[in-house]
Amino acid sequence: MKLLVVGGGGREHAIIKALKKNKDVEEIFALPGNGGIAKDATCVNIGAKDLDKIVAFAKENKIDYAVVAPDDPLVLGLVDLLNKEGIDCFGPTKAAAIIEGSKAFSKDLMKKYNIPTAKYEVFSDEKKALEYLDTQKAPIVVKADGLALGKGVIIAQTIKEAKDAVKSMMEDKIFGKSGDNIVIEEFLEGPEVSVLAFTDGKVVKPMISSMDHKRAKDFDEGLNTGGMGTIAPNPYYTKDIASICMEKIFLPTIDAMNKEGRTFKGCLYFGLMITKDGPKVIEYNCRFGDPETQVVLPLLESDLLTIMKATTYGTLENTEVKFSNKSACCVVMASNGYPLHYEKGFKIDIANDILDKVYVAGATLNDKGELLTSGGRVLGAVDIDDTLKGAISKAYKLVDKIHFDNAYYRKDIGARALKAEV
Ligand code: AMP
Ligand code: GLY
Repeated sequence: MKLLVVGGGGREHAIIKALKKNKDVEEIFALPGNGGIAKDATCVNIGAKDLDKIVAFAKENKIDYAVVAPDDPLVLGLVDLLNKEGIDCFGPTKAAAIIEGSKAFSKDLMKKYNIPTAKYEVFSDEKKALEYLDTQKAPIVVKADGLALGKGVIIAQTIKEAKDAVKSMMEDKIFGKSGDNIVIEEFLEGPEVSVLAFTDGKVVKPMISSMDHKRAKDFDEGLNTGGMGTIAPNPYYTKDIASICMEKIFLPTIDAMNKEGRTFKGCLYFGLMITKDGPKVIEYNCRFGDPETQVVLPLLESDLLTIMKATTYGTLENTEVKFSNKSACCVVMASNGYPLHYEKGFKIDIANDILDKVYVAGATLNDKGELLTSGGRVLGAVDIDDTLKGAISKAYKLVDKIHFDNAYYRKDIGARALKAEV
């Protein structure tokens, strides 16, 4: 089989490493991939948003199955375009990807189908949004409706801060068209849990739970990032919470999407907050999370390609989705300064014996075949162990064997989860 994986981050590296375990896989093309992925797949310099070029490449190279990993091409409808050419895909159609593409859509969906989430209002008029804020109390959350690289959410500590956020989104257009509509919602408190789930639109099979660490600095300080590290499983996601989520959130969401004529197939990501009133949805993503995937897939014991195809062909019910009962930890090594300004082009040294535990996100190869930093998040060091404590300690030992100038990483990945275990 010839596979195509769209995307070029640590998540795609994890997906590719897992797909390679299937003996029927002859070749994997990564579009665009990256310098680290180049060790595991054939990278082709076509960007993930270059839909026409991707479709042309897939046709020319007689791709048997395509995995569309990032949000942008899914929301833009790449799966529909590939399907039209007879190429089967893992991932939702454009109609279903709107569950991530528009926060106003997903909030309205949850309200209509009684799926627990924060109370909210949607605004397309700046004046009305500002007037509404005068009637509210801080802290309060302001969200751009569309995709904004994970940066479109402002937790405002004062009403003035919330108003400034509304102005910067609606007037100054800092997120472009993504800020044409905004959501203002209630501030929720509690530990966060990420649950990625396979679904074929009929059944839903959740993967092992995980915890992201979104802030740049230790102890959850600093700016929001794409994610500085993850652990799995998440100790806050107890068996009781899991069964409440299945009954009140996962199944109702699949059902709601079907009723709306937007059947979702692929990986649906539930960003949950475990509040004192029970689990609530903070956000849906229409894809695997990054860096959640880097801790979830190494714990998957079943074959990833088989499961992916089962979501496409509607046979998930009879397909095994089994996880090991070990724990995993991913420590993201970033360029100092990320998520703001950072320098790139530094040589990355990784000890040879740990290469299979490194998931590369932002690196290119130079003509000597050396790996150079090229992005904010450079790579993730991932290890597994019988205990969470062991996995964390092993992941940090890997970090000690990886060097590049200006490397920055959080020292406390998993610390909060360890406290919750005792
Ligand atoms: P999102 O991009 O929607 O995942 O939001 C980014 C982060 O903002 C989440 O992971 C939460 O930590 C935080 N957040 C989003 N919505 C809320 C809310 N209603 N209450 C508290 N925190 C929130
Ligand atoms: N780690 C959060 C995300 O992938 O959006």
